[in-house]
Amino acid sequence: MPTLIVTTLDGTEHRVEGVTGRPVMEIIRDNGFTDMLALCGGARSCATCHVYVGPDQLALLPDMSEDENELLDSSSHRKINSRLSCQIVFNGALDGLHVTIAPED
Ligand code: FES
Repeated sequence: MPTLIVTTLDGTEHRVEGVTGRPVMEIIRDNGFTDMLALCGGARSCATCHVYVGPDQLALLPDMSEDENELLDSSSHRKINSRLSCQIVFNGALDGLHVTIAPED
């Protein structure tokens, strides 16, 4: 079973099943984590699905779009490893992906 590792705002690390073909945001939401609002439901218009990706895993992800980059720029919590979790589609190559939910602005 591929695994997605999620660190919630309180610093607790959780291991959940990574579902191939599903956006990481939906996997987080469907596992009942309430730290992430994901207000636009994945329409790439809110940035409330902001996560920090394990720095050594960034290269596994496709490049971000201009829209994603601009939305992340609106966050005062942006870091070099910031991504929008609704834009990361999980697949087997991402087994063990570690994302940390970013604080809300
Ligand atoms: S859920 Fe709104 S941008 Fe990802």
